[in-house]
Amino acid sequence: MGLTVEPLTPAFGARVSGFSIRGGFDDRVLAEIEAAFEEYSVLYFPSQPVDDDEQISFSERLGVLEGTLPGAVGAGTKVARITNVMPDGTLKDPNGQQALFTRANIFWHTDSSFKPVPAKASLLSARRIPNAGGDTEFASTRAAYESLPPSTQARLEGLIVIHDIAHSRAMLTPEALSAEQRAAMPPVEQSLLRANPVNGRKSLLIGSHTARIKGWSEADSKALLEELMAATIRPEHTYRHKWTVGDIVMWDNRAVLHRGHEYDEINDRRLMIRTTLAGYGPTVVDGAIQAEL
Ligand code: OGA
Ligand code: MN
Repeated sequence: MGLTVEPLTPAFGARVSGFSIRGGFDDRVLAEIEAAFEEYSVLYFPSQPVDDDEQISFSERLGVLEGTLPGAVGAGTKVARITNVMPDGTLKDPNGQQALFTRANIFWHTDSSFKPVPAKASLLSARRIPNAGGDTEFASTRAAYESLPPSTQARLEGLIVIHDIAHSRAMLTPEALSAEQRAAMPPVEQSLLRANPVNGRKSLLIGSHTARIKGWSEADSKALLEELMAATIRPEHTYRHKWTVGDIVMWDNRAVLHRGHEYDEINDRRLMIRTTLAGYGPTVVDGAIQAEL
């Protein structure tokens, strides 16, 4: 019995069922999951409750995990806690740096593009969901790229973009980033275009961490990045996930942007656990764009 893979939208995303993470599954199923991931970019696994160890083991069958960011709750572990609740059960101070840092997830972004090696994939499991809000929305930069006129696509070849976590945090408030985090995560260069290593389909490495296009004026850079964002977040390139506890959604950070919708952080509670699969290498080395990674 193979997996059941049902598209979520005409452009990207699939609901994947017919296997059990807890029950165990063989490498043939794993290969089918990997093939669906390369093709659909976002995989929704319904009714797959896991604890942290089970999520880590499942994720490690798919790749090598990143450590969590400096200054985050549980920094250096393999799971990121995307939440308004502290480990001791108290709510985060809504105006404190920890809460602000997490809240900047409301802007369209791709995970870890501010690191020299951007993330390949993220897996998010819903452990506790708020009564309202808190959906996660995805936008395909692959569908966006493919929708661009060939003349625009040609203009993008060879461009390098500067990604900087300070840029995305400053969209909310500069206080969202601590001095320790600023020092640990300097700006990095990324290739604007990426090609999927399996199917060759291209996508855009943009989002809230993208500060500017290398070598371009502020105005030209802003204009092109805005044009590319507008093409990406068109309704036909997006999928909005409404969570049920026990859901896992896995996404391709090379091919989609995502954002977390707001919820009542002061009176309600939301706990999502993320594991992140590391990419294979930097997209730019010494100013030179690397062949596909
Ligand atoms: C993330 C993220 C959004 C959300 O986990 O990387 O951006 O909806 N999450 O929690
Ligand atoms: Mn994210």
